[in-house]
Amino acid sequence: MHWQPDQTMIDEVRSRLGLVTPPATAVVLGTGLGHWVDGLQEAAVLPYTEIPGFPQSTVQSHAGRMILASHGAHRPILVFQGRFHLYEGYSAPEVCIPVRLAALLGARTLILTNAAGAINPLFATGSLMLIADQLNMTGFNPLRGPNNDEWGERFPDMSRVYSPCLQDLAVDCARKLGVHMERGTYVGVQGPSLETPAETRAYRFLDGDAIGMSTVLEAIAAKHIGLNILGISCLTNKNLPDCMQETSVDEIIAQAEASGRDLGRVLDAVIPRL
Ligand code: HPA
Repeated sequence: MHWQPDQTMIDEVRSRLGLVTPPATAVVLGTGLGHWVDGLQEAAVLPYTEIPGFPQSTVQSHAGRMILASHGAHRPILVFQGRFHLYEGYSAPEVCIPVRLAALLGARTLILTNAAGAINPLFATGSLMLIADQLNMTGFNPLRGPNNDEWGERFPDMSRVYSPCLQDLAVDCARKLGVHMERGTYVGVQGPSLETPAETRAYRFLDGDAIGMSTVLEAIAAKHIGLNILGISCLTNKNLPDCMQETSVDEIIAQAEASGRDLGRVLDAVIPRL
């Protein structure tokens, strides 16, 4: 397995997807959110298993394929139906292969989606949360090691990881659709264990609003390589440290599938305006 995309992987994906023009936008679909692609016009589908050197999805709720799809009059979009996580045993650079590949194929905009637990007591299960900022609590950074100067700077600025323009656009789209969307800070942890009450209290104390096991490393790599990033979480459960409810992954997936409908509507409204 490769630890970063190389020219062979880029050429292989470009030819297997029949890419003529670069995809303008790439979308990473998180846990339980894969159904959105059912409504898209697929131009080409490429399972991760057929890309030499590409990591493989080991999570049952992630299909593990790349889809080139048309979305109305918008230029083709590249959808990753399934991502890679640290808890699967992947390294930080391996987790970031899809977003770096998207950038190297010519995408300018990246939409990251995920399922997350709400830790802001005012946020409700089932709501969407626009990611305004992030706290990387994984202990890893995909930029560790020699810097690839062709991709980005050694010390990239992280003052605005999530594009303020794209945030405004998503807020406007959600408002016009009547979809309730919170706005907050996403805390990224390694997992796979869910949080204890003490951990939840600590992350809330650090100003986190939602917590999950993905996204933060991809966002760092994407910002480094110059992508404009939009991030949206589906709040699948709520963690209140003083009355912690038991959570199961099946409930998280079921709730993500339910809230995924609203997320899909927001994506359908955002993409033509990119
Ligand atoms: N914690 C961590 N990751 C998650 C959660 C959670 O509560 N819900 C969905 N992904």
